[in-house]
Amino acid sequence: MRVLLTGVGGQIGSQLKKDLGGLLEVIGTTSRTMNLLDAEAIRGTINKIRPDLIINAAAYTKVDQAEADHEVAMKINGMAPGVLAECAKMRGIPLIHISTDYVFDGNQESPYKEDDPVNPLSVYGKSKLLGEREIVKVDGEHLIFRTSWIYGEQGHNFYNTIRKLLAEKDEIRVVSDQIGAPTSSLYFSRVIKKIIVMVFIKRQFPIKEVKGIYHITCGGRGSWYDFASEILKSVKEKQPCDCGLLPLQTRDYQTAALRPLFSVLDNQKASQVFSIKQTDWRDSFDEIVRGGESG
Ligand SMILES: NC(=O)c1ccc[n+]([C@@H]2O[C@H](COP(=O)([O-])OP(=O)(O)OC[C@H]3O[C@@H](n4cnc5c(N)ncnc54)[C@H](OP(=O)(O)O)[C@@H]3O)[C@@H](O)[C@H]2O)c1
Repeated sequence: MRVLLTGVGGQIGSQLKKDLGGLLEVIGTTSRTMNLLDAEAIRGTINKIRPDLIINAAAYTKVDQAEADHEVAMKINGMAPGVLAECAKMRGIPLIHISTDYVFDGNQESPYKEDDPVNPLSVYGKSKLLGEREIVKVDGEHLIFRTSWIYGEQGHNFYNTIRKLLAEKDEIRVVSDQIGAPTSSLYFSRVIKKIIVMVFIKRQFPIKEVKGIYHITCGGRGSWYDFASEILKSVKEKQPCDCGLLPLQTRDYQTAALRPLFSVLDNQKASQVFSIKQTDWRDSFDEIVRGGESG
């Protein structure tokens, strides 16, 4: 089975390449080899590679920058997924797409289910929602996985930013009133691999019956401050660190893009359909800190 994987250099793309590589023939693309701003380049590359499955792990992910870069974010996150979906449908192959908790406004008090009302607060969230809708409109075989707060050893993410700040500063302040579920790229990729094996390799379910949107995140919940506290603890286990960590309210931390105050995603649908057992985010984080590929 040949897979075309966009965003192969990104956090999730690189982890998927690693995890799926031994199982499938994975051909990764970057913005240089297949620019999602160019619909013709997308069609041409897919015709050339002739994949059996497309995984779209590429996106415009600079949440604050997207506020000023509306058009580009909408094209990459909103329109390109529709082009990928059309190509997939024409070839009669499935599309796996990744979306985000930022499609919700955060006003709900219980974890969001897949069909809860969406209301993105930012251009990034709106562009990702458009991407979901374009794929659903094409109505081919698709799986859309919404995830949240992705981090890992590699890439630009909260974990690496906080580690750097802890090494450089005497004191840092981190937002304590945005609640979500930090999710390691390792956990996310493992779950996606399990689903790919079930649906496309072992063919345990017809894709027609299971197509749609699923929430895939680590379990539990925490604030960015809670996450930073775990990071600080893990740093202190390895070396002395005198940097202070203080909580901060969102209203005192201005960013270009608004973010939901509560964006925990309910994973029950994925648990029921694909027998996914969620790992608590703190356990998953421990595994990353210990350099784990196990479990
Ligand atoms: N990060 C999070 O916290 C988070 C949370 C929820 C959902 N997600 C979703 O998860 C997916 C993967 O996110 P990530 O964190 O792995 O992102 P990432 O590390 O920022 O990687 C994104 C990738 O997209 C590629 N890309 C950007 N513009 C492109 C273009 N015009 N054409 C082709 N490729 C382009 C980049 O490739 P180049 O380097 O070649 O430009 C990059 O490798 C995205 O759909 C994102 O919305 C992420």
